[in-house]
Amino acid sequence: MLILVTGGTGFIGSHTCVELLKAGHGVIILDNLYNSKKDTAARIEALGGGKLVFYEGDIRDRALLDSVFARHAIDAVIHFAGLKAVGESCAKPLEYYGVNIGGTVTLCEAMRDAGCKAMVFSSSATVYGSENFVPFREDMPTGKATNPYGSTKIIIEQLLRDLLASDPDWQICLLRYFNPVGAHPSGQLGEDPNGIPNNLMPIISEVALGRRDCLQVFGGDYDTPDGTGVRDYIHVVDLAQGHIRALENIVGAPGCAIYNLGTGKGLSVLELVRAFTEATGVEIPCKIVGRRPGDIAYCYADVSKAKRELDWEARLSAADMCADVWRWLLRQ
Ligand code: NAD
Ligand code: WQD
Repeated sequence: MLILVTGGTGFIGSHTCVELLKAGHGVIILDNLYNSKKDTAARIEALGGGKLVFYEGDIRDRALLDSVFARHAIDAVIHFAGLKAVGESCAKPLEYYGVNIGGTVTLCEAMRDAGCKAMVFSSSATVYGSENFVPFREDMPTGKATNPYGSTKIIIEQLLRDLLASDPDWQICLLRYFNPVGAHPSGQLGEDPNGIPNNLMPIISEVALGRRDCLQVFGGDYDTPDGTGVRDYIHVVDLAQGHIRALENIVGAPGCAIYNLGTGKGLSVLELVRAFTEATGVEIPCKIVGRRPGDIAYCYADVSKAKRELDWEARLSAADMCADVWRWLLRQ
């Protein structure tokens, strides 16, 4: 199949493009390089063992989208492009609604007019909110977002369901990622966030590289075994492979399928820190501070649906995630 990958030079997109090429699919990337670099495309080609086509541009640019669809017989779209920083979304809601929701509307309009109606969308565990109980299952109602970023994911999920209701030919897959971490085992691809990171693994990385004195652990008094927050960390290569399974399952099968992509196992902040030190030999000084607003104690997936319907499950361990991040950091 020929796949248009929006946001394909980003963290999850780049790993997914490698897996697409390895599986023999054609890849066209559209990315405005807001949070990624152009030379990533060449590394994807080298690791995936194939050529791809790269367009530098914005998903809100309808004329560009139309020309891409006119030039290539695209079978499906994997839609990663968007803004993803929770804290920043509170300060810049218009940018988040504009890029994430506005961009998705423009992309869907271009797809509809080009007759390409298969989309895999990057959703998030954030849509479960704080009202549901772990492990989160796909048939639970979505919760209430605590920030504009989360709202955009809930709204886009609804937008895509409404689109299907208006035209039953659409083939839609909502993939709800839990906490993607890790890097390509080659050390050639990884997470390279612009600005100040918010997520745990990029912050552990900064401490490991000596750019920060210590990790501030947000809350030591949760009702969890060691008092720190528990999350479902998933290796980005496992996550990327989940996209290939999802894509191959939904193309030609109209409807809206929803899958959690996680490991199904929770790890506390201190357990992840310990895994990092065991994998790398690098000590991470920690300081327990107050809870971060909006955080919940537990977030992990029920992954049985993806295993049953996609024959996919995460294989890589926390040790793999940490060792691969460290290899990526040392090659920077
Ligand atoms: P990323 O920032 O590394 O990748 C996103 C890519 O989209 C970047 O390359 C960026 O340059 C591009 N982009 C941004 N705005 C664009 C626009 N207007 N037009 C074209 N390209 C644009 O992020 P990621 O971690 O790879 O996340 C990919 C998707 O997965 C996002 O939609 C994100 O919300 C979602 N997601 C991420 C996580 C996570 O923790 N990383 C968790 C759940 C869901
Ligand atoms: C993980 C754990 C923190 C930083 C976010 C988004 C979610 C999804 C993934 C996109 C929590 C603790 C963190 C630090 C800490 N993204 N922590 N010190 O909050 O589970 O999920 O990213 O869709 O939508 O909300 O991930 O990596 O920020 O935090 O103690 O300096 O690490 O409190 O328990 P989170 P995270």
